[in-house]
Amino acid sequence: MATIIVEGKGAIACASGRRLVLCIEDAGIDILHRCGGNARCTTCRVEILDGEPGEMNQRERDRLAREDKLASNIRLSCQITAESDLTVRVINRLSTSGLDDPGPRPEE
Ligand code: FES
Repeated sequence: MATIIVEGKGAIACASGRRLVLCIEDAGIDILHRCGGNARCTTCRVEILDGEPGEMNQRERDRLAREDKLASNIRLSCQITAESDLTVRVINRLSTSGLDDPGPRPEE
């Protein structure tokens, strides 16, 4: 079990190996995931404020490489699995997006 501190929300528990985006959403935070967790949209991006989220997989690396001027601590929460404690800032929320839904729920 990893402890994830989400800025503005506090600490949430996330089972080891579970996708970070799902733990954030299940904690009641309206994070976007417009491509359904497939490393295509980048709306699930989070800023890593503390902790080590692990190596990027190839899909995440390739997708983030297409973005301009992205800070090195921006990661895709659909591609991170909880392995250790982290502090994160959720960047894109449904409530401030003007969209009708967050996107298809990523698979477990
Ligand atoms: S990149 Fe689309 S949900 Fe993560």
